[in-house]
Amino acid sequence: MSKVKKIKGFADMFPPESDVFTFLENTAREVFSAYGYGELRTPILERTELFCRSIGAETDVVQKEMYTFPDRKGRSLTMRPEATAGVMRSYIEASLHSQEQISKLFTFGPMFRYERPQKGRMRQFHQINCECLGPQEPYADAEIVIMLLMFLKRIGLSDLELQINSLGCRDCRPGYHAALKEFLAALNTDELCEDCRRRMETNPLRVLDCKVPRCKEMTADAPVILDHTCKTCSAHHAAVVSMLDRAGVSYVANPRLVRGLDYYNRTTFEVVCGDIGAQSSVAGGGRYDGLISQLGGPDVAGIGFACGMERLALALEQKAAHESVRPDFLVAVLEEDGLERGMMLAQALRESGLKGEVSFAARSMKSQMRQAGKRNVRKVLLLGGNELVEGTVTIKDMDSGEQATVSMDAAPEAVAQ
Ligand code: HAM
Repeated sequence: MSKVKKIKGFADMFPPESDVFTFLENTAREVFSAYGYGELRTPILERTELFCRSIGAETDVVQKEMYTFPDRKGRSLTMRPEATAGVMRSYIEASLHSQEQISKLFTFGPMFRYERPQKGRMRQFHQINCECLGPQEPYADAEIVIMLLMFLKRIGLSDLELQINSLGCRDCRPGYHAALKEFLAALNTDELCEDCRRRMETNPLRVLDCKVPRCKEMTADAPVILDHTCKTCSAHHAAVVSMLDRAGVSYVANPRLVRGLDYYNRTTFEVVCGDIGAQSSVAGGGRYDGLISQLGGPDVAGIGFACGMERLALALEQKAAHESVRPDFLVAVLEEDGLERGMMLAQALRESGLKGEVSFAARSMKSQMRQAGKRNVRKVLLLGGNELVEGTVTIKDMDSGEQATVSMDAAPEAVAQ
């Protein structure tokens, strides 16, 4: 019989890789709750219209990357390519704005984009996503960036670069579009890729986001948006960076940071990790005032970000993650008549708050030690002939190699040390 294989760009995740994801989620919960965020879970399937109206019809995501199909009644549905649009829809549907002035929501889960799979780029990938809805003030921008960096630091990531830009607002963006169009029109446009030639007219900002090397080269001297922002946007940006300075956050100004989704205005940011290859952006986000009203909701401002969990897993020091889920013990039973006692001992250890396993069959010392090494347990508890006669257990510390024999009752305390 032939085997059924998984879909290209989709992955299974076994321990210890899945332990890393658990560690990321637990740490995110801890850090975000310290800032007043609560967890929201939204569906994976949404109406296609939601993404067209928020992410933007001219973006790569909407044009080329969505998993879209009709349901049995012919309605067009899409597997979410990102979380923000769904969070906005649920915020509007639940009328959250009438219940609280500021809503701080995080969400975890799988996202789907039909991209060319490579290291750090999957068709099903996972995001940790945060949205802060309500405040227009630049302090909200600064706080969310600081929170993101705190989370990244907590999981053990260093050597990161925070890039920041402002995209202006609906008042000043048209002036910038005009300047950009003029610049683009003066180029030998035949040399631009087909997408850029079209986008020059429909959505010139997207040209700055093009990944084609020749397009990047040709637009290297394009006008800079921060030279065209209105007074209010300039003051907003100045306040954000001043707060970041004050908090001791280092950042790099990247005038080409337009992001791949159309809903952004004012602040945009990304965190880049040089060590993980071409797909180096581990997190990205920005402000999206106007998005909620564009989706039929009230005029409420918002700012958020998402981290790619696969990329975080590639980047972070795996040790920190594995340490947090490392088992405390393995009870290795070497004699058949010690199996029941082994079960009871393992249970007592778990009741005392420790985590670990016990062998279900008496096996050789060598095979049990191999299993302990594979599981990366801290301590092995040996139950052999002598121990069974004496009512003791021998505890081997797998890091130091030290060994000590203690009474059964003393085992939980000895393992916990
Ligand atoms: P994004 O930049 O499209 O933004 O995605 C955020 C992060 O998701 C990226 O920085 C990257 O780490 C990860 N990511 C994206 N595509 C893939 C992929 N194919 N494979 C692996 N990882 C990937 C957004 O999605 C916005 N919704 C973020 C946001 C929230 N803005 C405001 N609020």
